[in-house]
Amino acid sequence: MTAPAAAPPLDVDRVRQDFPILSERVRGKPLVYLDNAATSQKPRAVIDAVSRFYATENANVHRGVHYLSERATVAYDEVRARVARFLNAPSPETIVFTRGTTEAINLVAQSWARGTLRPGDEILVTGMEHHSNLVPWQLVAAQTGAVVRAVPITDAGELDLRAFDGLLTDRTRLLAAVHVSNALGTINPVRWMVSRAHERGIVTLIDGAQSVPHLPVDVQAIGCDFFAFSGHKVFGPTGVGALYGRAELLEGMPPWQGGGDMIESVTLEHSTWARPPARFEAGTPMIAEVIGLGAALDYVETIGHAPIGTWEEELLAYATERFRGLDGVRLVGTAREKASVLSFLVEGVHPHDVGAVLDDDGIAIRAGHHCAQPVMRRLGIPATARASFAFYNTRDEVDALVRGVERVRRVFA
Ligand code: ALA
Repeated sequence: MTAPAAAPPLDVDRVRQDFPILSERVRGKPLVYLDNAATSQKPRAVIDAVSRFYATENANVHRGVHYLSERATVAYDEVRARVARFLNAPSPETIVFTRGTTEAINLVAQSWARGTLRPGDEILVTGMEHHSNLVPWQLVAAQTGAVVRAVPITDAGELDLRAFDGLLTDRTRLLAAVHVSNALGTINPVRWMVSRAHERGIVTLIDGAQSVPHLPVDVQAIGCDFFAFSGHKVFGPTGVGALYGRAELLEGMPPWQGGGDMIESVTLEHSTWARPPARFEAGTPMIAEVIGLGAALDYVETIGHAPIGTWEEELLAYATERFRGLDGVRLVGTAREKASVLSFLVEGVHPHDVGAVLDDDGIAIRAGHHCAQPVMRRLGIPATARASFAFYNTRDEVDALVRGVERVRRVFA
């Protein structure tokens, strides 16, 4: 990541005070939370926004004429505008609330792709997708006769961009690519990839689950047709996320779930649909979670993308250097452009055992295939141990991790 050199430094000790859980003790030790790629922790501002909503504003949205319902509706719709600003989307109407990245991608698969793809059409993904941006395409491929192809990755965990170019053909209808790999940390050149795809009229979707917490995202600069992200990875609640879709595409897409709020009129025989985004939000939505998401995006912007980027870059560089000095430890994923993910293997020790020993020290990492089994298969490994950093992590926590890994080596010597 690159951030402007003039970014004011982040006061990490101060921002840590905003996250109540970071003062918890785990197994008698101070919590060292390094599993941010799985889910991030929540600042007090988010916890309070959700709790305040339930305590003072709770009502259903878009349905009531009473005071509380109107207040809840305004608050809910304001977050749509908030998300649009966060992503630099052209209008709030291009933002659909979903349960998260996975649901956003399934929405595009079932609403756009299912009615569009024909037998032999190709969906191009990358070899570093997590399952959310792979399995929905496999399902729709089985439904339509389309074929899923994948851009290969190098041993360092970068996309083979020459192969990418060769895989864009007259049969390719969709490029669905991850922005930042959850397993390797690689930041992909999505702007360039999208422009290459658009030269051939290919629709593009970018999975931003792991990029939004770390990088400023501008969907208009990227140029993608769809962009998906999850609230819980960007310091918001679980169970909420959003899909950005280009207005012309959303307008032409049929509903994928039926229910209240997504209709224009209903008779016993027939219904007509509301315009997007309501068309894609059937039923009572996750109102409190949306409110919490708005608070999370406010929080991130108050801290500032530039200081976050600068600090995370420093932390990753420090952790990488410390790990390179460790005997019997191999880093997995050494792309030149990386977000703050450190996947590693300890010689002769299964990653689950690494995770268990670190857990004894109060250190939370993830061990396993990270819902990205094809990445593991490509690299010829069953799993990795993964430390993933957020802006509230510290050098001391990296040092604790290093001591923990040294202990793993001793325990299994
Ligand atoms: N995709 C999430 C992770 O990387 C769950 O851990």
